[in-house]
Amino acid sequence: MKLENDPLAAFWMPFTANRAFKAAPRLLSSAKDMHYTSSDGRQVLDGTAGLWCVNAGHCRAPIVEAIRKTAGEMDFGPTFQLAHPLAFELATRLAALMPEPLDRIFFTNSGSESVDTALKIALAYQRARGEGTRTRLIGRERGYHGVGFGGISVGGIVNNRRQFGTLLTGVDHLPHTHDLAANAFTKGRPQHGAHLADDLERIVALHGAETIAAVIVEPMAGSTGVLIPPLGYLERLREICTRHGIVLIFDEVITAFGRLGGATAAEVLGVTPDIITMAKGLTNAAVPMGAVAVSRVIHDAVVEGGPDGIELFHGYTYSGHPLAAAAGIASLDLYRDEGLFERAADLSGYWQDAVHSLKGKPHVIDLRNLGIVAGIELEPRAGAAGKRAMELFHKCFDTGLLIRVTGDIVALSPPLILEKAHIDEMIGRIGDLLATVD
Ligand SMILES: Cc1ncc(COP(=O)(O)O)c(C=O)c1O
Repeated sequence: MKLENDPLAAFWMPFTANRAFKAAPRLLSSAKDMHYTSSDGRQVLDGTAGLWCVNAGHCRAPIVEAIRKTAGEMDFGPTFQLAHPLAFELATRLAALMPEPLDRIFFTNSGSESVDTALKIALAYQRARGEGTRTRLIGRERGYHGVGFGGISVGGIVNNRRQFGTLLTGVDHLPHTHDLAANAFTKGRPQHGAHLADDLERIVALHGAETIAAVIVEPMAGSTGVLIPPLGYLERLREICTRHGIVLIFDEVITAFGRLGGATAAEVLGVTPDIITMAKGLTNAAVPMGAVAVSRVIHDAVVEGGPDGIELFHGYTYSGHPLAAAAGIASLDLYRDEGLFERAADLSGYWQDAVHSLKGKPHVIDLRNLGIVAGIELEPRAGAAGKRAMELFHKCFDTGLLIRVTGDIVALSPPLILEKAHIDEMIGRIGDLLATVD
């Protein structure tokens, strides 16, 4: 094949405006702790932990070492009808971090795969307990559950759904919980919105509980702009699901591993679902890996209740991959040894004050925070939604700060090793640059 003379041409980049990027590329060459180094040699403070995933900071020596060592000992071992000890060790460590009774772990390679796995397990469970008519899956508007066909179907992002959302039928959606009129500039969890969970009763009345297998929500929606759960909302969702025999899945791909100041959002917010999906921080993003934690009741119904043979016809070649398992164990060690979940909780007050100091800055119409996450919502430019935040993104990157924008919302989720000085730098820079954006 004769290729054009352009080193950037072949890589079709994900979730990227390819033409614009390739006309003005931003390349990263290395990373250490709180910083990336750009290809032109600049230090860039990581305000997003990569993509909500490098919770212990970049290129941490114990994780690098664990991967290196395992690569020389066990490059790959199948986990279909065979296994190696590292996958069991990580599963046991992970189960110990989960809320009771979610102590059975299925490994995947990404958040999207974790979501599709969780949906399948919910369907398998309903069938195993003799409720096979329960096939409907309920998501939520503005939910992001990755890009598998299951995930986009229960997801609530129109651009992700409109071209591909027709394969999985039998889904419905709860309303999202974002209400600027009632909750703008709330510190922590908003007061208003618990009643939005009651919409599940409407959906049950419409379709019949006997057709509904599962509800999936992000306990805190990250990707569509940091939507913090209103006080009482998740509790109510839990209660309605329990009453109607519906499996409740928390998608914790972003919120697990310290982001909100504890091992899981379930623990921090005090609501236990039946299934938790994870990825990202599980390995500090050093090797791709996801996981699904399942309650003992669901696991046993599927695994103990069936005939002899394979109980769940599902799995990935790389489920429990040795390098990922080694990175996962080393990451959990690091989180524990450095107390990073507690550190996030301890810093969250300082973080909250810093984030809310942006009130009154140009264009800011809302500020929200939970754990070490912030959403800074800007007034969109008339007729040009998203352009204002994108301009801020470029200005931040050019001056040495990586932020993430979704529409006109800036999302911040730095590594949990950050110091107060990093918070001051991040928020100070954003405040200064907001004044330069029109
Ligand atoms: C809540 C949630 N679920 C699923 C995913 C998909 O994860 P991945 O990109 O690893 O497939 C994401 C990614 O950001 C996410 O935030």
